[in-house]
Amino acid sequence: MESRKKDHINLAYQAQMFEQEVSELFHYEPILVSNQLPELEKTKFLGKELSLPLWVSSMTGGTKEAQNINKNLALACKEFGMGMGLGSCRPLLESKERLADFDVRDIIGENLPLMTNLGIAQVEKLLEESAVDKIIELVANLRADGLMLHVNPLQELMQPEGDIYLKPPLETIQELLEKVDFPVFVKEVGQGMGPKSLDALLETNIAGIEFGALGGTNFSLIELMRSDDMVMEQMSDFASIGHTAADMVGFLNELPLSMVQQKELIISGGVKPLSGFYLKQQLAAPAIIGMAFQFLKYAREDYSQLKKYVTLIKRSLQIAEKLLQKS
Ligand SMILES: Cc1cc2nc3c(=O)[nH]c(=O)nc-3n(C[C@H](O)[C@H](O)[C@H](O)COP(=O)(O)O)c2cc1C
Repeated sequence: MESRKKDHINLAYQAQMFEQEVSELFHYEPILVSNQLPELEKTKFLGKELSLPLWVSSMTGGTKEAQNINKNLALACKEFGMGMGLGSCRPLLESKERLADFDVRDIIGENLPLMTNLGIAQVEKLLEESAVDKIIELVANLRADGLMLHVNPLQELMQPEGDIYLKPPLETIQELLEKVDFPVFVKEVGQGMGPKSLDALLETNIAGIEFGALGGTNFSLIELMRSDDMVMEQMSDFASIGHTAADMVGFLNELPLSMVQQKELIISGGVKPLSGFYLKQQLAAPAIIGMAFQFLKYAREDYSQLKKYVTLIKRSLQIAEKLLQKS
């Protein structure tokens, strides 16, 4: 598993999809406002307060390098007031050997949201074995605010050793929700979700949804890159299946606002600060912006690069807030 996780970090660079074209999305009205940058408003998320409306989307643990990445990311969250999702914590279900890779609560502090992460297949298996205690223990050991469940059936089918879901994920989600009392989120990992999935998720008691939309890091593509030339050539069109973050904002805006508002929402999957800002404005309900790959690029070395990057994001959001209006 460790070598697969290492491949994921390296292949993420080659598996980026299209970038959202943002220039035509905004009105730029230079004679109507000053350009003195505003303080950004604080955002409530999972009962805690964020200084930036930003989420570090789940990235992998379970390798030596991931430990350094997670520490840097947690430091940035602490310094700038952002929330963080851990990468898949599956290695911790069987042993605590890799706990240090993920154990960032002391760095991020008590006052910012931190979520653990598991795949739906692991949860299905644990429920089948009446071992839900292992999930509860995982959340407690990491002193996390809850659990993010990644539901990624296409990716699993693009890898030879991928997990097969014996039940529809919605049933597993419902069953888990009956057995745990911490917040549970559901996310994709680069294909996003269609309107029926979003509608069905809103009907459940999950706490939130992270888009993991199509348009940025694409895990189905990453898995195909790990296979041979024939598989890549013949299957690569599968990697374009899914829904972009803009599509998902549109789907949610079609659903009853009173229901959408009840969930915490993270707009992620190929978004950058400016496109994220735009989509957040378009969405009728409150949301924050999630990014994985953009953070990863600067989190691999020492902290100063990441700090410089997050300072830039903050400035980008301030500029957007001041000068750009919905078109
Ligand atoms: C190196 C890497 C590892 C990832 N590992 C996980 C994971 O373990 N669990 C998960 O739910 N998502 C994982 N993701 C997916 C991200 O959380 C996110 O949904 C996806 O990358 C889209 O965001 P982006 O386009 O900003 O990268 C990973 C992403 C990257 C780049």
